[in-house]
Amino acid sequence: MFIYHTIAEIREFVRQARDKGSSIGFVPTMGYLHEGHLELMRRAKEQCGCVIVSIFVNPTQFGPGEDLERYPRDLERDARLAEGTGVDAIFNPGVEEIYPPGYCTYVDVERITERLCGFSRPGHFRGVATVVTKLFNIVKPDQAFFGQKDAQQVLVIQRMAADLNLEVGVVTVPTVREQDGLAMSSRNVYLDAAQRQAALVLSRSLKMAADEVRAGERSAAEIRQLVIEMIKAEPLADIDYVEIYSHPELEPAELIEAPALLAMAVKIGQTRLIDNIILRKGDTS
Ligand code: PAJ
Repeated sequence: MFIYHTIAEIREFVRQARDKGSSIGFVPTMGYLHEGHLELMRRAKEQCGCVIVSIFVNPTQFGPGEDLERYPRDLERDARLAEGTGVDAIFNPGVEEIYPPGYCTYVDVERITERLCGFSRPGHFRGVATVVTKLFNIVKPDQAFFGQKDAQQVLVIQRMAADLNLEVGVVTVPTVREQDGLAMSSRNVYLDAAQRQAALVLSRSLKMAADEVRAGERSAAEIRQLVIEMIKAEPLADIDYVEIYSHPELEPAELIEAPALLAMAVKIGQTRLIDNIILRKGDTS
């Protein structure tokens, strides 16, 4: 496996892979890899001859006071884990390689970025859409792989790819969880033992909501209220948002008749965690 730090090097690598007839699969990440990331890489490897992973903690998607500086980083460990899944190359640029002095162009996806994480983290999706566009232009993948864990992010990328006529397939991979239900996240390392236990309230409340739908509850407002009550009963948890929207349009949903996204962001101590589930009438799983 190769590790490149410059755009010129990764472009040359991609050109050679293409000359050999390989399709290109791409997994953008911010590193500190876990099983969720590795699952995206395995999927990419199943579907594409050559898989490239980017590791770049993108400053433009962090707001003031967020965790940009302390975001966990360990390239050596990441390289070992990625190589184990069969990844062909890692692209790990420095900030100046992606945003050189004088940089001033951004990609703004409207409407679906106005709610959920887009509302509580202003500018976040502008940073995500910008860096992903740049990475797509650098790597020129046939297929790119994103996790359902970041449900709104994958919808934003799909919308952007369609709107800007990008020639890339955007593949969504289901959320990978710890055995006890906690969605895997690079930010889970911030949690101490008590917080780690408290963090289970996110997945527990999602499961409860799915059970309610299975039992016949159709009112989005009712389900949302039950979820909020369960989270509020956890003393270490502080709700940022709990919302239900139609999926994939992200329009207000009153009844769970069509698929609906139940998405939440909850602070456990200083750590903001997100999780979601798609509620479907008639789901028996
Ligand atoms: P990061 O948080 O590192 O996540 C990289 C990819 O891994 C995203 O597509 C995310 O949805 C996926 N992922 C994270 N946890 C997962 C889990 N538990 N199960 C399945 N997939 C999971 O998302 C970003 O980085 C950045 O915003 C990025 C797209 C790289 C742009 O900077």
